[in-house]
Amino acid sequence: MTRTVHTFSLFILLSFLILHSSSTLAHSEKLNEKNPCKRLVLYYHDIRFNGTNASNATSAATANHTKLGKFDHGMLVVFDDPMTTDNHLLSPAVARAQGFYFYDMKTTYNAWFSYTLIFNSSEYKGTLNVMGADMMGEETRDLSVVGGTGDFFMARGIATFRTDAVQGDYYFRLQMDIKLYECY
Ligand SMILES: *[C@@H]1O[C@H](CO)[C@@H](O)[C@H](O)[C@H]1NC(C)=O
Ligand SMILES: *[C@@H]1O[C@H](CO)[C@@H](O)[C@H](O)[C@H]1NC(C)=O
Ligand SMILES: *[C@@H]1O[C@H](CO)[C@@H](O)[C@H](O)[C@H]1NC(C)=O
Ligand SMILES: *[C@@H]1O[C@H](CO)[C@@H](O)[C@H](O)[C@H]1NC(C)=O
Ligand SMILES: *[C@@H]1O[C@H](CO)[C@@H](O)[C@H](O)[C@H]1NC(C)=O
Repeated sequence: MTRTVHTFSLFILLSFLILHSSSTLAHSEKLNEKNPCKRLVLYYHDIRFNGTNASNATSAATANHTKLGKFDHGMLVVFDDPMTTDNHLLSPAVARAQGFYFYDMKTTYNAWFSYTLIFNSSEYKGTLNVMGADMMGEETRDLSVVGGTGDFFMARGIATFRTDAVQGDYYFRLQMDIKLYECY
């Protein structure tokens, strides 16, 4: 009888230790910012519809700005933009960026992005979901890669934005340096 009780407590103790050590392992696993498990540097081209010729446009404002400040506050733009591996608009697209951004600050240009990168090439098939604030005044901005599917199953990481070009009011290009720290 005492032996059974003893074995049983030992079993409980062991299970506790195993559970405990696996959870501490998960938390103490160090992620090195300089060591992503996958990295993709892509360029995002946004050609916003200027109201006359739609053939070239890949995005359009669906809500106009408000009267709060002069930084397009409230303007919402929906996009289906090409992603290329270099900064040429006419290079073949390796993915599409589909989603939206809106300007949300009264005192400066600041956008909030939420979109899916859709890969459908021989190299990658799958999606990455990105969201976060684009504080346009900063040289680089980090947005979160919150998840992925397909070749990017359960991925997480950081997408670092850098403004590469702004031409007039209707075209801008961002470099997106996508670093994944969780790859499965
Ligand atoms: C929009 O773009 C077209 C073609 O580039 C140009 O002809 C037209 O003048 C532009 N319209 C506005 C309102 O800027
Ligand atoms: C719109 O732009 C396209 C691409 O540059 C051009 O081929 C087309 O003729 C233009 N259409 C109009 C109505 O200006
Ligand atoms: C198409 O987009 C390119 C890149 O911004 C621009 O140079 C060109 O004028 C655009 N053409 C039309 C017809 O809008
Ligand atoms: C947005 O509002 C401005 C005036 O504040 C106007 O000039 C512009 O045409 C509007 N744009 C759209 C797409 O309605
Ligand atoms: C992916 O590409 C294949 C082959 O080009 C095509 O048949 C399929 O419809 C595409 N899928 C999506 C979601 O675009």
